[in-house]
Amino acid sequence: MVSRVIPVQPFDLVLFGATGDLARRKILPALFHRFQIGQFDSNCRIIGSSRSDLTAEAFRSQTADAIREFGQDVETTAEEIAGFTALLDYVAVDARGETGWDAIHGKLREDAIRAFYLSVGPALFPDIARRLSETGIATPESRIVLEKPFGHDLASARGLNAALREHFEEQQIYRIDHYLGKETVQNLMALRFANSLFEPLWNSSHIDHVQITVAESIGIEGREEYYDKSGAMRDMVQNHLMQLLCLTAMEPPAHFAPNAVRDEKVKVIEALRPVAQASIARGQYRGKNGDGYRDHAGNPASRTESYIALKVEVANWRWAGTPFYLRTGKRLRERVSEIAVYFRDPPHNIFEGSGPVHGNVLVIRLQPDEGITLKTTIKDPGPGGMRLTGANLDMTFADELPESGRPQDAYERLIMDVIRGNQTLFMRGDEVEAAWAWADPIIAGWQDTGEAPQPYDSGSAGPDDSLLLIHRDGRRWRSIGT
Ligand code: BG6
Repeated sequence: MVSRVIPVQPFDLVLFGATGDLARRKILPALFHRFQIGQFDSNCRIIGSSRSDLTAEAFRSQTADAIREFGQDVETTAEEIAGFTALLDYVAVDARGETGWDAIHGKLREDAIRAFYLSVGPALFPDIARRLSETGIATPESRIVLEKPFGHDLASARGLNAALREHFEEQQIYRIDHYLGKETVQNLMALRFANSLFEPLWNSSHIDHVQITVAESIGIEGREEYYDKSGAMRDMVQNHLMQLLCLTAMEPPAHFAPNAVRDEKVKVIEALRPVAQASIARGQYRGKNGDGYRDHAGNPASRTESYIALKVEVANWRWAGTPFYLRTGKRLRERVSEIAVYFRDPPHNIFEGSGPVHGNVLVIRLQPDEGITLKTTIKDPGPGGMRLTGANLDMTFADELPESGRPQDAYERLIMDVIRGNQTLFMRGDEVEAAWAWADPIIAGWQDTGEAPQPYDSGSAGPDDSLLLIHRDGRRWRSIGT
């Protein structure tokens, strides 16, 4: 097979929060895999940085361990790992003080692309941005990458945007939503805009409703401090599910170019109707023997939701009358992320008495088993007259396109896009603010009433209220697992 790997220009990447969980689990292994396939070579540098006083050698050895533990399931040699860790350096930095900045400056080259990856809490974004700028470490061509959460409400997101824009232009700022780096999320755009079959039907005349599900089987263990202050709405809906909704609902942009795509997404968010509390179901998982949410959170009175379902309306010409049902939760039966587009039934059934016509459903599976399924109605083969039955047109990408190799982790693509200077798959400042402007009153709504989330069993499909939310409209959720 001809290699499709296009090498990137030499870069110096400074990774703040380099000893943190995300760096170890995702960022460093993702960089390693792109090194392994030859997208960059020994002319690149990765400078780890955090408060810890580590030697470069200790950082290299920690990174080698992280790659072995969290790297993707591909054959990896000791030479490859050693080749990668040889690119690593380390500087201890006090983000709010003077220490370390000169040392970082001294390590950067004039002629390499500079990227600063802030894998740290948002409270540190303004200080680090200011230091990078005031010390002259950041040049007008440098890129700054920010991990979520990007604020916890509209006011804090605005504050962060304003603080960043004092030192960086918008085209230098890369706000990560790792869902946008997922292969199938990009495939959603390919499906919609590179095929002529779907687009004429992609509106409320033909689509009855859309279900967007991100179900997780894990709980909040290990992240309780952050999660209990955040909850599913802030942690998942304002960002990841919102992005899935935008890509499903947006108008075709004129080009697959950063601002063209992001302009269309902002229009979707701005068209969202406020959501009434009656169109929301919140839940909190319970478990036996100290294994429930409140035990994990260490907060017996916690009212934070680990599950949320919402009925969302996009009030524009294309979607009026077609609701989007969103749901996400922890400790559910299975890990499933998908977008299911339910088409309307045929206007007239000529097959009365032959069995039900199964409505067409297009399911875009994000994970696991990335692929696309189209539920159709066909004639049940064989004798017995005209009998109808449901059958799936099913495509799993790994089976259909085996030569494309292992699925890439979202971070691999996103980090390389930063180096390439392509912002298409990153959130623009106004987009993040628009999403918070929509989410804030929803959160304030349940805070005002003080209503506690409904308990649901770990390993179930969520709270009963979420069933009512959709049953009332004469519709059903797709099942989560079997
Ligand atoms: C993160 C959330 O952004 O996304 C986590 O903070 C969640 O709570 C995770 O578990 C889900 O990501 P993925 O890629 O595993 O679906």
